[in-house]
Amino acid sequence: MVAELIESEDLKNIVTSPETNPAASKIMLTARDVVVSYGGVAAVDGVSFEVRAGEALGLIGPNGAGKSSMLAALGGQAKVGKGSIVLDGHEISHLAAYKRARLGLVRTFQTTSEFSDMTTFENLVTAGNGYLGARLSSVVFHHRLNSKADKQIAVRAWEMLERFDMTEKANTYGRELSGGQRRLVEIMRCLMASPKVLLLDEPMVGVAPHLVEKLVGDLKSIRDEGIAIVIVEHALEVVRALSDKVVVMSFGKKIADATYDEIVHDQAVQDAYLG
Ligand SMILES: Nc1ncnc2c1ncn2[C@@H]1O[C@H](COP(=O)(O)OP(=O)(O)OP(=O)(O)O)[C@@H](O)[C@H]1O
Ligand SMILES: [Mg+2]
Repeated sequence: MVAELIESEDLKNIVTSPETNPAASKIMLTARDVVVSYGGVAAVDGVSFEVRAGEALGLIGPNGAGKSSMLAALGGQAKVGKGSIVLDGHEISHLAAYKRARLGLVRTFQTTSEFSDMTTFENLVTAGNGYLGARLSSVVFHHRLNSKADKQIAVRAWEMLERFDMTEKANTYGRELSGGQRRLVEIMRCLMASPKVLLLDEPMVGVAPHLVEKLVGDLKSIRDEGIAIVIVEHALEVVRALSDKVVVMSFGKKIADATYDEIVHDQAVQDAYLG
């Protein structure tokens, strides 16, 4: 009976299709025995995990566990003392952040980092600027769109606004946006680079409760189009809704690596959270 089922064409498709089986998709990011130290004290102490295309990994743990430091090691903001980081086959642990971004690894920060004196449209165009070679002045300052790259980037920015329901905010300055809209613009800026891996540090901070669900939906759609996501988040309902697997850190070490349902029943995880 089981053999018959496995022979069935439909089932074979289900088992092998990357869309329906994340385990079949490509490993996009591998961290192996990563160490980050500040003044001789290890904030990240030998952490390993991997994330596949189209998969979201939730990175959780108590305050000071080393989550942001781990993200900084991945993104290139912190020095990787030991260990390796491989992005889609490239060893990147000694590359500068901008070079990692060119290879497809981009990130957001615990505090929002979009430009408050630029409009949403300008924020998107400047994010895409480095990647397609458009000249910022001609796109942003409404001169004629001369080169093909300029037009391409403006079109991409507009498509991004449409996709995330933000066309009405195209000409709104960053400082006038709500907390949730700023988070979204930050994520859209990352997407302008057509990333393979997106790192998010507490993207729900400052987002009004009724908008959290929309942002989770947006992140799911980004994941489902094949981007690998690593999300640091204290809001566990967000981690549960989004994450295919969860890595738990405590005092710089990984103490669990499993599905959300498994880790909530893990004694070591409960102990870490209860202190
Ligand atoms: N730039 C730095 N210099 C020195 N120590 C640092 C630095 N950044 C972080 N640390 C220390 O490293 C440890 C881990 O900090 P980290 O910010 O990575 O934790 P976290 O898990 O992101 O915490 P939170 O949930 O509060 O954001 C903490 O003890 C922190 O004080
Ligand atoms: Mg942090």
